[in-house]
Amino acid sequence: MHALKFRPNRFARTILMMLLAMTGAVAATAADYRLELVETDWELRPGLTTRAWSFGGTVPGTPIIVRQGERVRIEVINRLPEATNVHWHGLILPVQQDGPSLSIQPGTTHTYEFVAGKTGTYWYHPHFMPVLPQLDRGLYGSLIVLAPEDARYSGDHTFVLDDWLLDAQGRRLEGTAPGDMERHGNVETVNGKTGPAIAPLRLVKGELHKLRFINASTASVHNLSIQGHRFKVTHTDGQALALPFLTDSIKLAPGERIDAELAASGDPGRSYEIASSRRSSGMVIPIVYGNGSVPAVSSPFVTPKPRGYSIDPNARPDIVLELGSAMARGMYGHGMIGRGNTGNAPAMIWTINGCAHPDTLPIDVPLNKVVTMRVYDRDMMGMMMGHGMEHSVHLHGTTFQVLSINGSAPTGELWKDTVPIPTHGYVDLAFVMTNPGDWMLHCHIIDHEDGGMMTVVRAR
Ligand code: C2O
Ligand code: CU
Repeated sequence: MHALKFRPNRFARTILMMLLAMTGAVAATAADYRLELVETDWELRPGLTTRAWSFGGTVPGTPIIVRQGERVRIEVINRLPEATNVHWHGLILPVQQDGPSLSIQPGTTHTYEFVAGKTGTYWYHPHFMPVLPQLDRGLYGSLIVLAPEDARYSGDHTFVLDDWLLDAQGRRLEGTAPGDMERHGNVETVNGKTGPAIAPLRLVKGELHKLRFINASTASVHNLSIQGHRFKVTHTDGQALALPFLTDSIKLAPGERIDAELAASGDPGRSYEIASSRRSSGMVIPIVYGNGSVPAVSSPFVTPKPRGYSIDPNARPDIVLELGSAMARGMYGHGMIGRGNTGNAPAMIWTINGCAHPDTLPIDVPLNKVVTMRVYDRDMMGMMMGHGMEHSVHLHGTTFQVLSINGSAPTGELWKDTVPIPTHGYVDLAFVMTNPGDWMLHCHIIDHEDGGMMTVVRAR
């Protein structure tokens, strides 16, 4: 089912390559994709179908899989009743290709074109304000830039995690669930499926698989634990770790990705699972062993060259951001006017240095220079309301080095594009902007982004 939408592109591409070869034209390596945004009835599991918005008729949308250095052309056709755009989360590309500044009107087409510069696990989603109603209806997909060593795994699997707030008939409920301030769902999905409809991961003893997890939820953090095995975490947000580590549980904040190796060391014929801490919501990936075994596959992981910035840990950061929130003024007297919230949640505005987007101050940074930034969580409102969600800060246009979290440096270089800020704590990061433009910086909890926790980093 998934592959059906995918194949015509592949087929067209093959034909194009053949034609190019026949005419003697230089067949430059290029990937062509067509993403048609359409409303579709999506079966989450037998008996539970919801009206979703999708890239190409499936949730997640058409997977985009390219090689490093490849030129990528993506035709986006908007068949939805409202304007939108697409953002390639985590890719470094010219600002016109990044997405947020575009508005693709209903019935029109826009073609993106860029070169896939670095390998890793990325994803795509709309960045059209308000983002929540579009992303939350299922508009997201994976974007993988393959590294040569990826081909040496026994299997390479992508798991896009999401959650949906639905009634028993699968109808979308508006707003937030009672007691919640953000939009958390009651049905959790892996690659668009929940519970028994989730495809099992099939292993043979001795194999070594690559697993890529993407959190596409608008607010929910996903904690996944594995039985009888351990994940070897190799990449965060697509970037190789200096020191991969073993763990039996991983946590993904909204927007984050984790790549992990899974050594098939279980018993042939037995079953295991990868399950969310809220397993009753349906996020359980069965692990099923076939019979027999293969000689143990060794890890093809390539240790990255050190590339960390040399920064005096005692120097003052170039930029200091304070994340906060407030009750929307309209609460007192004029009813609820909070922009990010509807329904049961109190109307909130979410701020950066005391201002809510579009009134946040832009941050000017020089091109091609190392910039340090400290991001504090000063969300007193959240604390008062016994809330305290970790804001998940995402910066477009670069990959940043996480220098420290609450003052302590990570063991080994850590590179990311989305980082949770510990509640009432802070994170120090450093980055270089190589492309001029206005790059969005925002919380990837989409209620907060839409509700004002967003600004731009202006690289000149
Ligand atoms: Cu994943 Cu600014 O977005
Ligand atoms: Cu936030």
